[in-house]
Amino acid sequence: QARLRGVVALDGPSGTGKSTVSKKLAAALGATYLDTGAMYRAVTLAVLRAGVDPADGAEVIRVARAAELSMGTDPLAPGVRLDGAEVEGEIRGPEVTGAVSAVSAVPEVRELLVALQRELIGRAMTEPGGMVVEGRDIGTVVVPDAGLKVYLTASAEARAARRTAQDASDGRRSDLRTTHADVQRRDALDSGRKVAPLRQADDAVELDSTDLDIDGVLEQLTKLVESRGLVT
Ligand code: DC
Repeated sequence: QARLRGVVALDGPSGTGKSTVSKKLAAALGATYLDTGAMYRAVTLAVLRAGVDPADGAEVIRVARAAELSMGTDPLAPGVRLDGAEVEGEIRGPEVTGAVSAVSAVPEVRELLVALQRELIGRAMTEPGGMVVEGRDIGTVVVPDAGLKVYLTASAEARAARRTAQDASDGRRSDLRTTHADVQRRDALDSGRKVAPLRQADDAVELDSTDLDIDGVLEQLTKLVESRGLVT
């Protein structure tokens, strides 16, 4: 079986199909997988559970330091644990989604999570098989020397439509207009923040998925990984 070596960094805004293709790519290449967005979401859940205002930086930092995160790296069943309990479902809900941009804009929270991400990635590199890491700042901040950096984009309309479909299939209620507004609001917050804003790394390959389905994106990614000699 083809096997990835090193790190593939997949960045981009939400709704590009990033999570789905990251997991599929990792599974196809015998690699592990790290969802860094899930880490920001889990800290956000801890903040909300503690009854802390996501805009209160000092309190957010306190909660983030006390939170115990455990990240699964199996692409077929990643899972996230917060203080010992599985929170995979809860971190995708509207409360967390609405507050995560504020929490992820706090520099100390990013420092804490980037350190944890590097630790998990470092540990994965001591074992056979590479790792697919997805987020917003993987190619720019977390793993600047990744073997392949991809910046996955799609039009805001296409991303809102996908998110709505995803919500429906996960049994969450949502509508296209609200989702479109939410996508645009989060894009603005994620791209406009001071620390590690969402941006394409200079050496990242841009892949526009507006007119591609998941398999189409996967095919492009597989070609890129092979052309970089990252598959053994
Ligand atoms: O990929 P996602 O939608 O699960 O990410 C949730 C939020 O976390 C997103 O609004 C931006 C933030 N995030 C980040 O700031 N840096 C990352 N590496 C990953 C996610």
